[in-house]
Amino acid sequence: MNSSLVLQAKNLSKTFSLGAEDLYVLKEIDLALPRSSSLSIRGESGCGKTTLLNLLARIEQADRGELTWNHRLMRCDRPATREEVAQRASFLGVVYQAYYLVPELDVLENVTLPARITGRFDPSIEDRARFLLEQMGVGNKSSQIPGKLSGGERQRVAIARALINRPEVLLADEPTGNLDERTGEEVMDLLLHACSEEGASLILVTHNLAFAQATDRQTFLSGGQLNEV
Ligand SMILES: Nc1ncnc2c1ncn2[C@@H]1O[C@H](COP(=O)(O)OP(=O)(O)OP(=O)(O)O)[C@@H](O)[C@H]1O
Ligand SMILES: [Mg+2]
Repeated sequence: MNSSLVLQAKNLSKTFSLGAEDLYVLKEIDLALPRSSSLSIRGESGCGKTTLLNLLARIEQADRGELTWNHRLMRCDRPATREEVAQRASFLGVVYQAYYLVPELDVLENVTLPARITGRFDPSIEDRARFLLEQMGVGNKSSQIPGKLSGGERQRVAIARALINRPEVLLADEPTGNLDERTGEEVMDLLLHACSEEGASLILVTHNLAFAQATDRQTFLSGGQLNEV
C-alpha cells in the first residue's frame, strides 16, 4: 500500500450492453493518483473518458475491479448506498462541461448544496462559499440565478461548488469544452490554482493539449486502455 495515494483503481472494467452486442469500453484500467497531484486524460470522443470518471466517482457501476478512496476499499460494482453518497460528497467534487447548476437556486445556494448532501451544513459554510466565489472572481454574483450568468461565470460557480466540502479529489470532465479559447484559459488557470491552494488532487479530462500538459502526469485513453504519455 502506498500511503500517498488518495485514489487508486485496479483492473477497472466496464461493458455496456447494446442489444445483441456488448461494448467493452474500459479494459482493466489501473490508475493511481498521489495526494495533491494532477493527472490529465485525453482521448478520442467516445473512448470512455466520462465513463471512467463516472466509475471513479461511483456514479456508474464497474463490471469488476478494485477502487479505493483514501485507502478505503469501495464496492465499485455495486450502486453507492445513501451513506456512501454522503461519503462521496465529502471525498470528491465534480466539474462538468455543461456546468449542471440548479437553475432555480441562486449562486450561493448552488455552491452550498454539496454541504447539505454530507449532512454537515452549518452557517459557516456560507462564509466558505463566499470566499470561494471571491477566489473564482464571481464574488459579486452570489444572489444571482445561473440563467443570468455567462458560461465562464457558470463554470467558476461550478468549480466553487465542487470545492465547498474541501474534497480530496476533484474530477473535471472537459470543464472548458463549452467556453471560448480565452475564457477557457482563464477558467483553467483558476481551476489549477484553486486545486493547488486547496490541496485537492485533480483528474482532468480535456481535448486541449496545452491544458493536459499543465498537469503533473498525462495519460491517453484508447482501445479501453489508459497509457501514460
Ligand atoms: N449508458 C450507456 N449505455 C450504452 N452505451 C454507453 C452508455 N454510456 C456511454 N456509452 C458508450 O460508451 C462509449 C464511451 O462513452 P463516454 O461518454 O465515456 O466517451 P467520452 O470519451 O467521454 O467521449 P466524449 O469525448 O465525446 O465526451 C461510447 O461509445 C458511448 O456511446
Ligand atoms: Mg465525455
